[in-house]
Amino acid sequence: MILVTGGCGFIGARFVLDWLGECDEALVNLDALTYAARPQALTSLRDDPRYTFVHGDVRDRALVDALLARHRPRAIVHLAAETHGDRAIAGAAAAHRP
Ligand SMILES: NC(=O)c1ccc[n+]([C@@H]2O[C@H](COP(=O)([O-])OP(=O)(O)OC[C@H]3O[C@@H](n4cnc5c(N)ncnc54)[C@H](O)[C@@H]3O)[C@@H](O)[C@H]2O)c1
Repeated sequence: MILVTGGCGFIGARFVLDWLGECDEALVNLDALTYAARPQALTSLRDDPRYTFVHGDVRDRALVDALLARHRPRAIVHLAAETHGDRAIAGAAAAHRP
């Protein structure tokens, strides 16, 4: 079992699909589903018993503690992030506000 954060993002979704395409080790995906998330990229996994999606915030310590206790992942792939690339192009002032 591995835990992936931000598994619905650009890199995360590709990682999740590649992981479950390459091996049988189960995967928990913790994602807050922000504007950047692409959960539709993972619809093919909806009925896959190896895949568990958790809608939540990586900053929620109680939630993360509970996930670690319940699933006991052997590794964490931390991809949850606030990425501002597209927003910076659309409106640099907002992306770079102090
Ligand atoms: N995109 C690239 O080309 C690239 C290249 C090198 C490294 N990276 C790094 O990989 C990581 C992921 O990048 P990406 O492009 O996939 O980002 P992204 O913005 O596409 O995805 C981020 C994901 O994290 C989730 N998320 C955001 N805040 C969260 C929170 N508090 N709790 C849980 N989930 C949260 C979002 O819902 C989204 O699904 C970043 O650290 C980035 O710097 C990206």
